[in-house]
Amino acid sequence: MSNSIQSVLVETRVFPPPQDFAKQANVSGAAGYQALLDEADQNPEGFWGRMARENLQWTKPFTQVLDESRAPFYRWFGDGELNVSANCLDANLKNGNANKIAIIFEADGGEVKKVTYQQLHDLVCKFANGLKSLGYKHGDRSIIYLPMSIEAVVAMQACARLGITHSVVFGGFSSKSLHERITDVGASLVITADEQMRGGKAIPLKPAVDEAIAMGGCEAVRHCIVYKRTGGKIAWDAKRDIWMSDLADKQSPVCEPVAVNAEHPLFILYTSGSTGKPKGVQHSSGGYLLWAKLTMQWTFDAKPSDIFWCTADVGWVTGHTYITYGPLAAGMTQIVFEGVPTYPDAGRFWKMIQDHKVTTFYTAPTAIRSLIKASEANAAHHPKSYDLSSLRLLGSVGEPINPEAWMWYHTNVGGERCPIVDTWWQTETGGHMITPLPGATPLKPGSCTTRLPGITAAIVDETGGDVEPGHGGFLVIKRPWPSMIRNIWGDPDRFEKSYFPSELRGYYLAGDGAQCDKDGCFWIMGRIDDVLNVSGHRLGTMEVESALVAHELVAEAAVVGRPDDTTGEAVVAFVVLKRSRPEGDEATAIGKQLRDWVAKEIGPIAKPKEIRFGDNLPKTRSGKIMRRLLRVVAKGEQVTQDVSTLENPAILDQLSKPV
Ligand code: WT7
Repeated sequence: MSNSIQSVLVETRVFPPPQDFAKQANVSGAAGYQALLDEADQNPEGFWGRMARENLQWTKPFTQVLDESRAPFYRWFGDGELNVSANCLDANLKNGNANKIAIIFEADGGEVKKVTYQQLHDLVCKFANGLKSLGYKHGDRSIIYLPMSIEAVVAMQACARLGITHSVVFGGFSSKSLHERITDVGASLVITADEQMRGGKAIPLKPAVDEAIAMGGCEAVRHCIVYKRTGGKIAWDAKRDIWMSDLADKQSPVCEPVAVNAEHPLFILYTSGSTGKPKGVQHSSGGYLLWAKLTMQWTFDAKPSDIFWCTADVGWVTGHTYITYGPLAAGMTQIVFEGVPTYPDAGRFWKMIQDHKVTTFYTAPTAIRSLIKASEANAAHHPKSYDLSSLRLLGSVGEPINPEAWMWYHTNVGGERCPIVDTWWQTETGGHMITPLPGATPLKPGSCTTRLPGITAAIVDETGGDVEPGHGGFLVIKRPWPSMIRNIWGDPDRFEKSYFPSELRGYYLAGDGAQCDKDGCFWIMGRIDDVLNVSGHRLGTMEVESALVAHELVAEAAVVGRPDDTTGEAVVAFVVLKRSRPEGDEATAIGKQLRDWVAKEIGPIAKPKEIRFGDNLPKTRSGKIMRRLLRVVAKGEQVTQDVSTLENPAILDQLSKPV
């Protein structure tokens, strides 16, 4: 347990919801929250049925809310039909939002482009008609490998319009990761861009698609559609490649949405687990969209006049739910940002909030921490140098926010007037699960506070029994909820074993350790499996280990996390080479070679921050690597645990010294 987590547990400050905010909030005051909580607890199906009827437009109404007959393969609204894109776009044309700005896009270099709901609808229809003209249809799967852009939203929405299941791959992932996902998902279509712009630099994207397809096993891919972002030079396969504009521009702006079953997989998104192979998290159409829209209204208190900005990338679930689907389903105006927080300088976020009069800002603790440092280094980049008076609500996501960062965010960005919603959720949960409601919940810095209505979050022991407040345990969700993961694509056994282990009475196991205090507030203590959280991104230690041992020089590798001031956790790798242990300059050179290798195998986010070489790894007599000890060593701490079961205790001294 890291120091910052210990300090969280003694945190006693409480910030009640500001009265002005509570007065106008969609869910107002403790009584407003309690009423929804009670309704959902007393009659879950009645509650979810009411929500689904009131918030979504169904082309065929459902008659059954929840089908538990094949639990944990739950079905929600299972005989209903709808179209997700129609609920995000056409619904807004019908309710008077046609000329409302849907997206304000700001490019890396600062250019701004705006589209109304009508324009976005037309772009989506044209592209969908283009896809249709190539024969793509309901049941197909596409890979989307695009930079942050209006086009990324258009591509996802166009797939949803036709019932094509999309799988978005973050632009920072390597061709190898891309290949893994194209083949696992069985994609027949890839949508990419020539290049992406980040921090003033052009970074190629299409070449990674070419490389991935050349690796073999991607024969199902019929087309690669390319969005021209920079006009940079790329290789072209005339039989397979098509410019997005050539395909879409001439098409009709009307495309009838294809009604799909509520359970039809809207998307598959890969995330790290405790084995080397990422899991394809499969989400539904109806239940997922319902929760995306409801949490916009509850957590973010969505109002017609809001300018919403979620800084995530659509390559992660946060970008799916709180960029592509939630804000549009809720009829909001939102910012889509291509660039990075530090370009052209570390005032970028604050300048954008000022320029676009952002009301609701949702970002990750790692970004906040790095901007704290930058503002300390240069006052010109401090939020106080900008007019942030448009803000009314702040959000945090991806990892626990340490109370120091929370207080800074509250004071310097929120001007002490904006509530902060610290939202706990996961790729698998589809949307927020535990979070304050800004007009109802007293805030405690470092706690994601209380469960949302209908979400039966609890802390249990290894037999599924409830744990007393103030004691640590496994975070579970006892009852199913509409936006839950439906399956791991192609691996139902792994789905059951990972999320519904038999000892836990059918509860959903989140994989986080946590505790709950007397007020029902949750404090997340970190993952219980071999998954790290680096800059709010999930990374399996096994994935990094597999990448390292795939290098010709490496005999063995063990990867652990170490607390890091900026990124939350940092990757530390302990490596045994096939040759003798390198020292000095040679160790530095091989270390660099291996770090670059990991970036190429997985992506730059997986690069170890530090690599230490040893003659061996600490192992038990039965040959099991003692990661527990490596975590201590990685932190630079003295091993005080019992090492009597260790085959080779002396190795700890060798590994304690950074190269
Ligand atoms: C893991 C899920 C949530 C969408 C983005 C990440 C950690 C997430 C919080 C929070 C403490 C958090 C958990 C969780 N996490 N939000 N507010 N407080 N921890 O989704 O990649 O699926 O990662 O991120 O450990 O299990 P993800």
